[in-house]
Amino acid sequence: MSVGEITILPLNDDLTLDMAQINGIVLPVNFSAKIYSQMVQDKYSFVAFVKNPKTGKDEAVGAIGCVLKSDPHACPNTSGLCIASLAVLAKYRSKGIGSKLLNQVIELVECQKKLITVYLQTQVNNDDGIKFYQRHNFSIITRIEKFYRRLDPPDCFVLSRCFH
Ligand SMILES: CC(C)(COP(=O)(O)OP(=O)(O)OC[C@H]1O[C@@H](n2cnc3c(N)ncnc32)[C@H](O)[C@@H]1OP(=O)(O)O)[C@@H](O)C(=O)NCCC(=O)NCCS
Repeated sequence: MSVGEITILPLNDDLTLDMAQINGIVLPVNFSAKIYSQMVQDKYSFVAFVKNPKTGKDEAVGAIGCVLKSDPHACPNTSGLCIASLAVLAKYRSKGIGSKLLNQVIELVECQKKLITVYLQTQVNNDDGIKFYQRHNFSIITRIEKFYRRLDPPDCFVLSRCFH
């Protein structure tokens, strides 16, 4: 299936429901309302839409959610931006939507004058997600045992990329 034009919009209060629905379908972890409002406030989060050919309406199919937050493993000496969520609905994967979402964040980070480390945690068995980030020049910096209380496997990798 090919998709038509992909539109990327900054996350705002009206779009958090779209994003929460996508995350609920795709991701194994839940995010609180507080995290969504921090994503809106920090302004590094985006939602991807494609036009439904039948209805002509734009439909939300993916989203990236980031919060300004440092991490002792990823950025001991720099500011940090945590990618808390990145999710594309299965039907719409491998069409460049995930890359577009990530590149929007990277463009914003590259505009900053200060040193900033973008990082994320993901389950150690998420091969596709890890490969995706490695293709975008992120590296595994550490493994944290028992990071997830309710997931199996419970260990995560921390991946990061530094910008300055
Ligand atoms: C990781 C994830 C966000 C990637 O989203 P995506 O939209 O599929 O990403 P992209 O399409 O940009 O890239 C994925 C693949 O599509 C390919 N691709 C990119 N643009 C393409 C295009 N226009 N046409 C065909 N293929 C394309 C990429 O080369 C890549 O190929 P590969 O997997 O064979 O190496 C998605 O797989 C996902 O939601 N996974 C579940 C949640 C998750 O793991 N999140 C990240 C970890 S927290």
